[in-house]
Amino acid sequence: MSRSQASERRELFVVCAPGLEAIVEGELRGLLGGAAELRAQGGGIEVEASDRDLLRLSLKLRTATRILARLASFRAASFAELHRRAGRLAWEGLLRPGQPLVVRASAERSRLYHTGGIAERIARGIGERLGAPAPLCREEDAPPEAARVIARIVRDQCTLSVDASGEALHRRGYRLATAKAPLREGLAAALLLASVDPSSEGEGEGEAEAIVDPMCGSGTLAIEAALLASRTPPGLARAFACEGWPSIDRALVDAVRAELAARPRVAPPAPIVASDRDPGAIAATEANAERAGVRAWLTIRQAELREAAPPGERGLVITNPPYGVRIAERRRLPAIYAALGARLRERFAGPGLRWRLALLVPDPSLAAATGLTLAPRLHFRNGGIPVTLFVGAITR
Ligand SMILES: C[S@@+](CC[C@H](N)C(=O)[O-])C[C@H]1O[C@@H](n2cnc3c(N)ncnc32)[C@H](O)[C@@H]1O
Repeated sequence: MSRSQASERRELFVVCAPGLEAIVEGELRGLLGGAAELRAQGGGIEVEASDRDLLRLSLKLRTATRILARLASFRAASFAELHRRAGRLAWEGLLRPGQPLVVRASAERSRLYHTGGIAERIARGIGERLGAPAPLCREEDAPPEAARVIARIVRDQCTLSVDASGEALHRRGYRLATAKAPLREGLAAALLLASVDPSSEGEGEGEAEAIVDPMCGSGTLAIEAALLASRTPPGLARAFACEGWPSIDRALVDAVRAELAARPRVAPPAPIVASDRDPGAIAATEANAERAGVRAWLTIRQAELREAAPPGERGLVITNPPYGVRIAERRRLPAIYAALGARLRERFAGPGLRWRLALLVPDPSLAAATGLTLAPRLHFRNGGIPVTLFVGAITR
């Protein structure tokens, strides 16, 4: 690879769940430095980055969904124009000749609207450029070596990108066991980052907040809290599509991975406790924590909510109680949230105790049912359901 290729910068689009842009932007600032030019759009953030940064972002971002490399943006008002322009792009840096392709096409307010036709013309252009037909496949039938091309046409302007991540970034690889209604790993990390106590910044390690999830399900919040506190790069155990790009220097991939893997992990400075009344959930939490390499740092126990107790003077109770998908369940929800609030006021508030609550709810009235004064911090969709994160002090 030539020197100019090695120092080339790519235009990236870091995709995230709508509502999480500010959190992902904060992570990007932390990883790329204050001088990085970030342009937030609904559902993601645009940024230019070197290959080294692309690899670091892939391995270290906790809350983004995936990273796309933007290849080109051009006018395409006919299939002939789309085919011709697509065939002129430098696909050889990102795809291999004959590599199976999934083309995710969308079109709005444009002359081209047939997404199947759009995908087919792009694949044909790519095949001609690379000198071997690119077999087009559907997401459901895609073989593991398939590459993903994203085509978005708005008002006849076509933007083409190649997916740099492969599997979505929330798939860290540890969560093979799930209990009911698991939270995506990236959303769990976003809840933790959004709940950070601003007053804790700059304080000594002894003052760190403990974490308690008394309805832990498959343990995602507790495991993500341990990965965060131990500064473990969440992507170390998995691979990313960009690592196989012809234009990526393999030695750089190995060097970035080796550098991150060699950094000593710091044991979380305060206890992290996960409990649930369901034995299946506890077994899932234990297996997931083991795979994530954080089992030794968690206290995991089968317990009813009413048995929850603070493991220290200061901390954060962070949890997503049942949402109540069925109507009969939904009727019982206010009582569950009231019981949670009562338990927390009784055990986690009082002289010498400084505890806060971060609660993910499908309906703000459920946050009010706790009897605590909580403020909304984040709003996004979880499994299609609009949800809000409420945060506040636990006081009597
Ligand atoms: C929505 S799930 C939590 C999902 C979890 N955040 C995850 O990522 O897998 C709610 C959990 O609350 C637990 N739960 C409900 N009522 C409880 C109670 N009274 N005491 C303890 N756990 C309870 C359920 O067993 C269930 O695992």
